[in-house]
Amino acid sequence: MPAPLRQILRLLSHGEFVSGEAIARALGCSRATVHNALGAALEQGIGIHAVRGRGYRLAQPLSWLDGSGLERALAYRAMPYRQLEQVDSTNTYLLGEAQAGAPHRLLVAAEMQTAGRGRRGRAWLGGRGQGLAFSMLWRSGRPAAELSGLSLAVGVSLTRALQGLGLERARVKWPNDIVVLGEGARVAKVAGVLIELTGDMLGPSAAVIGVGVNVHGGAELSARVGQPVTDLGSHLGPVERGDVLLALARALDEDLARFEAEGFAPFRDPWHACHAYQDRPVLMATVAGETVSGVALGVDEHGALLLRVADGVRRFHSGEVSLRGAEA
Ligand code: BTN
Repeated sequence: MPAPLRQILRLLSHGEFVSGEAIARALGCSRATVHNALGAALEQGIGIHAVRGRGYRLAQPLSWLDGSGLERALAYRAMPYRQLEQVDSTNTYLLGEAQAGAPHRLLVAAEMQTAGRGRRGRAWLGGRGQGLAFSMLWRSGRPAAELSGLSLAVGVSLTRALQGLGLERARVKWPNDIVVLGEGARVAKVAGVLIELTGDMLGPSAAVIGVGVNVHGGAELSARVGQPVTDLGSHLGPVERGDVLLALARALDEDLARFEAEGFAPFRDPWHACHAYQDRPVLMATVAGETVSGVALGVDEHGALLLRVADGVRRFHSGEVSLRGAEA
C-alpha cells in the first residue's frame, strides 16, 4: 500500500469525519493526492464515506497492529516476530522463509493478505484492520508422518485461548475450525487453521501453522462466504487485534512444545471437551460424494474422527470429508 494511503488510513482510524484539507495539512501533501489515495483505497475494498462539507470517514473503524509493541512482548518468550503491511499469504511467505532457513517459532503477521488461503483450496477472506492473519514456523524433531494429530492439537489450543479471552462458547469443529456455539447445535466460524508441512516423512519436519481470526466484520463475511461466520467483537465487544495475537501466540507456543514432547495424547480429552458436536448427530460429506449420517464419538489417538453409524463405528481422516451438525 502506498505510504500516503497508509498514513491517511491511520488518521481516519477512529471512524470520525476528517476534512480533506486537514488530512492534506497533516501529511504535507495536496488535496489531489489525498483524493487519489482514497480512490485507491476504495479499489482495495476499504469502505470510505465521503460527504461534501464534512470530509472523509472510514465505514468501519480500523485497528492496527502495534508492530514494535508486539515484538517486545514476544521477545519475553524469545519468539521472533515479523510484521508485514501486505502480503499474498502469510503461509506462502513463511514457507519460503522456512526454506531459506528462518528460525524456529518465527511468527509472521500481516495487516492485509491479498491471496489468503484456506483449507481444501479455498480462499480466506479478511479485510484490512478487521481480521487477524498470522503464521508460525514450528521446526519439529518429529517426522511429518508423526504429525497427524498436530492440526487437532492446534485447534484445541486456539479454542482454549479464545475461551480464556472470554469467548466461553468457542468450540472446535473437526478437524480444526474454531466456531462459536449458538442456539441448538448451530455454529458460526470465528477462526480457521491451515497447516502446511515441509521436510521428510521420516526425518525432521517443519510446519507452517497459519491462523486466520475474524475479529470484526463477521456479518459482512457471512454474506460473502455463504456460511455462518461470526467475529470476536460481536461476542466480546471492542477487542484489540494485538491482544488476540499475543494470547494465541502464547497458547500455541506452549501447546506445540507439549505436542513435540508428548504427541497428541494429552490433547485428546481436551479436544473432546471443546468439540462442538461431541455425542451429537452429524452429517459427513465424503470426497467420493457420499453423505454419511451418524453420531460423533470424538477422535482416535491419531486425530481421525469416529462416527457411530448404523452398522458400527467408522473412522474418517481429515481431507477426505467435511462435517456439519445434523440438528442445525
Ligand atoms: C480455513 O479455515 O480454511 C483455514 C484458514 C486459514 C487462514 C490463515 S490466515 C493466515 C494464514 N495465511 C493463509 O494464507 N492462510 C492462513
